[in-house]
Amino acid sequence: MRILILADIHANWPALEAIVRHESFDECWCVGDIVDYGPFARECVDWVRENCRVVVRGNHDHAVAHFVNGRGDEGYRYLARVTREWMWKQLTADQLRFLMKLPVTRDVTCFNRIVHLVHATPRDPLDEYLGANERQWADRLKQVPAQLVCVGHTHVPFLLEVDGRAVLNPGSVGQPRDGDPRASYAVIEDGRIELLRREYPLDQTVDAIRHTDWPDRAKELAIATLTCGGMRQALRVGSP
Ligand SMILES: [Fe+2]
Repeated sequence: MRILILADIHANWPALEAIVRHESFDECWCVGDIVDYGPFARECVDWVRENCRVVVRGNHDHAVAHFVNGRGDEGYRYLARVTREWMWKQLTADQLRFLMKLPVTRDVTCFNRIVHLVHATPRDPLDEYLGANERQWADRLKQVPAQLVCVGHTHVPFLLEVDGRAVLNPGSVGQPRDGDPRASYAVIEDGRIELLRREYPLDQTVDAIRHTDWPDRAKELAIATLTCGGMRQALRVGSP
């Protein structure tokens, strides 16, 4: 049994396609944030809907589905605000309904273990940012009767052991933020967990962004972020 774990796809179909075309898997689970930031919302929502056995809602899925306006004129908030308005023009009512009905958490039994899936953390399922901090995760796992917790949200992959349990963040398929622009994901095979990266045709995503009606500043910011593997990295090299 080989399970593909995906998170933070963010409407980047070439990145998603590169993974699912080359990886063999029996099941796919998605830990949220299918939409915002990228130019291929329809393709990504349809693929997840048709192919993922388990899907939980991310903060961006929630905001798009509930028509929450983005706020902010800088950084990721600015990019989310601009691309969210575009999401509403791209997605069908049926696709928005799919996002709206996604559960915030799911528990799955797999390899004789309980796996808890949540986009951010069990304490704050949609919004809390928590990286590979063992002490803080020990606190967040107190009320969670699972041996494995799968999360996303930070766009930075990690596999952490906490009091004999594991917390897995597969990183971001469509907008990595750890300085490595390759698509990030994880595979669980017979209970063994592996963090993986895959090159994808970034030029296809860049080309699609250039053909949107986003403001030029948003286009350049989105492209630099994807090219550098994060906005911080992009600003450091002075791209946008
Ligand atoms: Fe995200």
